[in-house]
Amino acid sequence: MAHVNENYLKLPGNYLFATIAKKVEAYSKAHPEANIIRLGIGDVTRPLAPAIIDAMHKAVDEMGKAETFRGYGPEQGYDFLRQAIIDGDYKTRGIDLDLDEVFVGDGAKTDVACIQEIFGDDLKFAVADPVYPVYLDSNVMFGHTGEWNAEKGIYDGVVYLPCTPENGFKAEPPKEKVDIVYLCNPSNPTGTAMSKEELTNWVKAAKENNFIIIYDSAYETYITEPDVPHSIFEIEGAKEVAIELRSYSKCAGFTGTRCSYVVVPHACVAYKKDGTAVELNPLWNRRQCTFFNGTPYIVQRAAEAYYSPEGQKQCLADVEYYMENAHIIRDGLTEAGFTVYGATNSPYAWVQTPNGMKSWDFFDLLLEKAHVVTTPGSGFGPHGEGYLRLTAFGTKENTVEAVKRIADLKLFK
Ligand code: MLT
Repeated sequence: MAHVNENYLKLPGNYLFATIAKKVEAYSKAHPEANIIRLGIGDVTRPLAPAIIDAMHKAVDEMGKAETFRGYGPEQGYDFLRQAIIDGDYKTRGIDLDLDEVFVGDGAKTDVACIQEIFGDDLKFAVADPVYPVYLDSNVMFGHTGEWNAEKGIYDGVVYLPCTPENGFKAEPPKEKVDIVYLCNPSNPTGTAMSKEELTNWVKAAKENNFIIIYDSAYETYITEPDVPHSIFEIEGAKEVAIELRSYSKCAGFTGTRCSYVVVPHACVAYKKDGTAVELNPLWNRRQCTFFNGTPYIVQRAAEAYYSPEGQKQCLADVEYYMENAHIIRDGLTEAGFTVYGATNSPYAWVQTPNGMKSWDFFDLLLEKAHVVTTPGSGFGPHGEGYLRLTAFGTKENTVEAVKRIADLKLFK
């Protein structure tokens, strides 16, 4: 008799964005005349940059000729992309990495969910609250949490790090003993970003208290303030305590194309039960070689083109386009009376609900009265209650229209 992984049964509902999609689909079916604007899931709307399309076409042609056809590639990614990553994302910021410290993947969601496999079964972890749901849900599935506590809206055994207006929505190092901490900087969902000093404090805490930071910098390209680091490895000593994940989804529009990478520095170690230090890099390498046959060649060529001068120029223009939307949301809703956070180093605006309304109630109100889809803050954790997240990844026209519709509801009259 096969048994199910009962950890899955601890999950109280569907994946957040699947729940929202279902709700919106039902509403849309019932109201086919409604012109719905989607500012919920952070999915991009700009097409791939011409430099990336050119590189993909070229790679497609190579795949059609016997002399240049590629079968299985290296599980860690092709050297051409790993070198472009090191040169483009790290050398420029004074960070040295070895080629074998970079692992190309098929999306940061996959990488961030799977990285925990190289840690022990008894893994204890901390997450920001609110937080990108994948960190938490994947750990539930792997059995790294206790039961769902419906009353509190949290899992037993997880260390939650509250992010509130009082601490600028910036998670502070845990007081409890943990093995790993997930940090997303700039943060999804609050859109706020930690400064170099704050991140230095985290690295210091990780060294003193022996935990590893799983650092998700998927939104790094959206940083505009000079004191926000683009990589955790800008902080001295971070290589000993951090693994960094990056995605091409938000910087180059790869949400449907799928490419990412993980940096596991050789200096980063965890321990055997007898106290012996073990490098994490060969473990992740072993995991990838066993579970993964590499990101498609065509996609890796596309990612490489992101680092070309034209690729950088074209992709940055798209990032600026989205940041203009972020400012339209931030400024427009502030003017309408809302309290808005984020949207300065991030494509996400974190908006306080009016009059203490619950997140899901405000989500429903905006869907029904303004035909605007958002993401309820409580879906990201209990400290997200009372907030909504709006994404700047829509078109400019839709963003302007959505803000106007919300302002026209005159909720602060
Ligand atoms: C989000 O909306 O939080 C993200 O787009 C989801 C993701 O990156 O997987």
